[in-house]
Amino acid sequence: MDKIRVTGGTPLLGRVVISGAKNAALPAMVASILTNETVELENVPFVRDILTTRKLLTKMGVQAEVREDGTATLNAAQASGHDAPYELVKTMRASILVLGPLMARFGRAHVSLPGGCAIGARPVNLHLMGLEKMGATCDVVHGYVDASSPGLRGAHILFDTVTVTGTENLMMAATMADGETVLDNAACEPEISDLASLLRSMGARVEGDGTRTIRIKGVPKLHGCRHRIIPDRIEAGTFAVAAAITRGDVIIAKCAPEHMAALLLQLIGIGSEVGIENDCMRVRGKDPILSRDVTTQPYPGFATDMQAQYMALMTQGNGTAVITESIFENRFMHALEMVRMGADIRIEGRRAVVRGGKPLTGANVLASDLRASASLILAGLVARGDTLIDRVYHLDRGYERIEAKLAALGAKIERVR
Ligand code: EPZ
Repeated sequence: MDKIRVTGGTPLLGRVVISGAKNAALPAMVASILTNETVELENVPFVRDILTTRKLLTKMGVQAEVREDGTATLNAAQASGHDAPYELVKTMRASILVLGPLMARFGRAHVSLPGGCAIGARPVNLHLMGLEKMGATCDVVHGYVDASSPGLRGAHILFDTVTVTGTENLMMAATMADGETVLDNAACEPEISDLASLLRSMGARVEGDGTRTIRIKGVPKLHGCRHRIIPDRIEAGTFAVAAAITRGDVIIAKCAPEHMAALLLQLIGIGSEVGIENDCMRVRGKDPILSRDVTTQPYPGFATDMQAQYMALMTQGNGTAVITESIFENRFMHALEMVRMGADIRIEGRRAVVRGGKPLTGANVLASDLRASASLILAGLVARGDTLIDRVYHLDRGYERIEAKLAALGAKIERVR
């Protein structure tokens, strides 16, 4: 298994170009199931979760091509499969996103339940509740969801918890249902609006995305389209924190600063300088780094996918910061690894109390999930000596060429095969 070695102590300097958003490209690819015409995508990140999605779609008979230049071509004219097998779903929970499109197009789906993951139980009960409200039958048998419907009907669906993929799944399911569907307390992440804009360019009637109430009027058929995926706000955020923690000066290009307001306000609050010009941001890290509390929230609040990176930053703060994780019940695995590097972090249920000011030293550490791996790289960038991060396959799921991008900014980082 690959590892990554980071040698700390170098302020990052220069310009980095952000890739397309993994969490927008995944639903966009599965949306191709909704039509028998060609869907062309641009700005697709060449990361492992995208390749897993290609494999899943190919198994269902979709002609799916993904290229390193960021383009993808998908055509589901020959698609006949309704199966999302356990072997694939267990490697990527987002596979559950095929449920909505399969139900909309074929009225049938046999999808493995994702099961738990390192950061929490992550049930999909709200996805199934929504489909049942639309008239489907969803049985869970032998670890699979067996869903069927003679034809989905529009419905009023109220989520008791804001769910990103739940909103995406039901938005896609509703595109060809009979009548209007209203999604209430819906997620309003930028990735939701990106999917809505793709669906509209396929002929769907979707309104209200970006707000807590989304309305979808069903249409008989959808057609092909060309769509450019939005930039990855979590990758951009990771590089912004890298500039702040190393007291560096980095231009983050081809990103969408308007999608990152909560993080940028937090960085300004801790003393970093942030400049914005169109699709570019300049982040300059300053001393001292001011310790500042944060609570993760659904968008537009502070993203849970930035929590681990922010924790690494707060280990370098000039006081104490309390980080509250309100979305997932078990998303502090990275804290214990940072403690191995000399950080002072105490976990109290969903709160982490981070006492800053203790210099970190390099160590062998273990990545438990995608964002945890990124946070350990950030901690390694300011630690004395070498940090060796194991299980970086997590990282490859969602960051495109991160070592090369960091090395181009002056980081001492290499992959150890
Ligand atoms: C999406 O996951 C993202 N993944 C996650 O990013 C992200 O952390 C998360 O949204 C929150 O922002 C993709 O878009 C592929 P949720 P998702 O449903 O949709 C509970 C990354 O690092 N819930 O919004 O699976 C759930 O347990 C990944 O890129 C139910 O109870 O998250 C959680 O506590 C990690 N029942 C909360 O809602 C349901 O049916 C929010 O989860 C669904 C969710």
